[in-house]
Amino acid sequence: MIKIAPSILSCDLSRLDQEVKLLEKGGADWLHLDIMDGVFVPNLTIGPPVIKALRPKTRLPFDAHLMIANPGKYIKDYAAAGSDLITIHVEADRNPGRTIDQIKKAGLKAGISLKPKTPASRIAPYLAKVDLVLVMTVEPGFGGQAFMPAMMRKIKTIRQMIDRSGKAIDLGVDGGITDQNVDKVTASGANFIVAGSYIFKQGNIAKAIKLLRQNSKEVC
Ligand code: DX5
Ligand code: ZN
Repeated sequence: MIKIAPSILSCDLSRLDQEVKLLEKGGADWLHLDIMDGVFVPNLTIGPPVIKALRPKTRLPFDAHLMIANPGKYIKDYAAAGSDLITIHVEADRNPGRTIDQIKKAGLKAGISLKPKTPASRIAPYLAKVDLVLVMTVEPGFGGQAFMPAMMRKIKTIRQMIDRSGKAIDLGVDGGITDQNVDKVTASGANFIVAGSYIFKQGNIAKAIKLLRQNSKEVC
């Protein structure tokens, strides 16, 4: 099943609770929270206090995408704030396996993400442990960038790795996804779609989510 996870990075942050309610009403499956520390990526966003404040405002599950160095230090904080899924970057952690174990021990789903230049093989050792692989289809750090078509091959490769594993792991794509390319990424095997600027630029959140779903090609 295709899952749509809108990123709040491009929403009107002064009306965050209202935007989140519109996403929920509009048919989002997950809420994608982009956490940046100014170290792993050259930008800063939100942290646990904002997640905690949002938690009572919606029933949507929280997908915390940690673009931070040494994520293992902060798993407790992101779990306590109300995350349901925590995704770490394979490049950001000396021992991703241990951090994934920490996430699972906290009773949450765990994801592993990789930057555009990182080969698919880097995530292979963690496939047995994760619930989601998140392929970055832009260089992480900012919303509103253009999708990198060269990532299509990586999406296909990781879909094959997942299928071979026999596990029900979601394959996500994050960055530059629109109603014009969602068909290709889903046909290549992605089933978890993160979209930020596309959803908030449309002027109608529900319509944008619907279009993403309509244009998706369910292959898994
Ligand atoms: C990029 C973030 C993404 C991104 C999505 O570092 O992880 O979630 O902001 O936004 P769009 O859809 O605008 O690329
Ligand atoms: Zn993200």
